[in-house]
Amino acid sequence: MIEAIIFILAYLIGSIPSGLIVGKVGYGIDIREHGSGNLGGTNTFRTLGIKAGLIVTIADILKGTLAAAFPIFFGQEDISLLLPGVFAVLGHTYPIFAKFKGGKAVATSAGVLLCYEPLLFLTLVIFFFIVLYLSKYVSLSSMLAGVSGIIYSIVIKDIWLIIVVSLLTLFVIYRHRSNIKRIINKTEPKIKWL
Ligand code: G3P
Repeated sequence: MIEAIIFILAYLIGSIPSGLIVGKVGYGIDIREHGSGNLGGTNTFRTLGIKAGLIVTIADILKGTLAAAFPIFFGQEDISLLLPGVFAVLGHTYPIFAKFKGGKAVATSAGVLLCYEPLLFLTLVIFFFIVLYLSKYVSLSSMLAGVSGIIYSIVIKDIWLIIVVSLLTLFVIYRHRSNIKRIINKTEPKIKWL
């Protein structure tokens, strides 16, 4: 029973549409009607600027971190932190509070890994910025950061981490189908500030 409560709460936390809230409350703008139409940090940066983008990105990361910590809060340490984390990622991607159309699973997945293995989170962030510096594509950097996470998990030989990070990375790639097409067509927007 307590497991079900933890997973439902994790999904609900993940479902909080930070990009929608910040856009509508702070700027009177629905970011789904602008840029890529995605309800994530990148599209918030693109549409509303650095302050709003940072707030949404940090909020989306923290949703994953908080949900992953639920087994500790509820005294259920036999439940892997990765499990409620996956439910938070599903909530972020298919949010009940935003007609099941959410983000692309990147920031919330990173937040889950921040709770489970902080050094992996740091690795992802460093790898993300190296690829971003070289390619200028946020989407490509997000997907390749996931691949670096798989390699990290294999190196530390954590079988559950290998499975979950591999599934999350496949999911992130699946959610970036339109970005992949745009990268191939050379129509994917590049960032200009790095
Ligand atoms: O995390 C999402 C990012 O990788 C791409 O977002 O808005 O360019 O589709 P966007």
